[in-house]
Amino acid sequence: MEGVRVTQTGGASGRALVTGAAGFVGGHLWRRLLADGVEAVGLDMVASRRGIPEGARFLEVDLRDGEAVRRAIEDVRPAVVYHLAAQASVVISMRDPVGDVQANVIASIQLAQAAMAAGTGRFVFFSTGGALFGAPEVIPIGEDYPARPESVYGASKLATERYLAIVTNDSGMQLSVVRPGNIYGPWQDPHGEAGVVAIFAQRMLAGEPCTIYGDGSQLRDYVYVEDVVDAAVRAAQYEAATCNIGTGAPTSTRGVFDAIARAVGYTAPPVLAPERPGDIKQIAQDASRARAIWGWAPQVSFEDGISRTVDFFRAQRG
Ligand SMILES: NC(=O)c1ccc[n+]([C@@H]2O[C@H](COP(=O)([O-])OP(=O)(O)OC[C@H]3O[C@@H](n4cnc5c(N)ncnc54)[C@H](O)[C@@H]3O)[C@@H](O)[C@H]2O)c1
Repeated sequence: MEGVRVTQTGGASGRALVTGAAGFVGGHLWRRLLADGVEAVGLDMVASRRGIPEGARFLEVDLRDGEAVRRAIEDVRPAVVYHLAAQASVVISMRDPVGDVQANVIASIQLAQAAMAAGTGRFVFFSTGGALFGAPEVIPIGEDYPARPESVYGASKLATERYLAIVTNDSGMQLSVVRPGNIYGPWQDPHGEAGVVAIFAQRMLAGEPCTIYGDGSQLRDYVYVEDVVDAAVRAAQYEAATCNIGTGAPTSTRGVFDAIARAVGYTAPPVLAPERPGDIKQIAQDASRARAIWGWAPQVSFEDGISRTVDFFRAQRG
């Protein structure tokens, strides 16, 4: 299936800039672009635990520093900016709302303005397909489902989408917005608050107990990181749009537990704990717009993605 390919405009360098390149998804995207032969520069405010790919360039920049952002963009003059850097923790966003707005909203506007001034042609912003919507009554949800964020993180992503649409309007820079479901795969941080696949995989491989909050029936749309990276690449190549990226077929937390237990050979039952406040019952993304416009469809089945992820964490332990 093919989408509507658009000729790239602006940013004569042909270079790409990936922000959040030291993070989970940004690290995968950076390497995918390099493997495709793109001169991709990575940017983050911290060094990556994966290291810097051979021959690649990495800029340590805090996007909250407007002057540093302008200098970095003028230096790289990217044709495409993939903006994945974010304060991505819901818990931290609730503890420090102002800090979240600075890292997510203000940093994104500064980056977009600098990119427009440098003649960047395409800007791909990573929003979220989950935290924008609160607790949807029906799933899967389309892009036009009413946004009712319940966390500061969700509100920041929604605000950033809106600000970017306004500030880039009528500019030479085309904006695409990627709204992924629950991303999982190798290199996800197993010590974070979210990322249940990484957490369960790591704990089961260590023979440690795994906790399920609530009855395990909560539904989430798990999408494999390489599929998400493919969507990002397409978002810069095809017609600019805002698109959900998910499988549309959610898995329950208990289903995740069972799939990982099978892959690991783990036989202990889960530890059941009370539901956490704010945990929504169900969410899944309808990605038919991404299919129609970007020619995107998930390629990695849940079982296969789990098996690749478990293999990765197993090799890490060894
Ligand atoms: N992981 C998921 O399930 C998921 C789901 C939906 C959306 N997203 C979005 O996808 C993007 C990537 O997520 P991830 O899981 O790779 O997150 P991550 O936390 O692994 O990576 C984010 C990176 O951004 C960097 N960063 C944060 N603030 C910065 C700043 N001020 N300047 C420079 N760098 C900064 C961090 O150092 C980190 O390396 C984020 O925008 C996130 O909100 C993720």
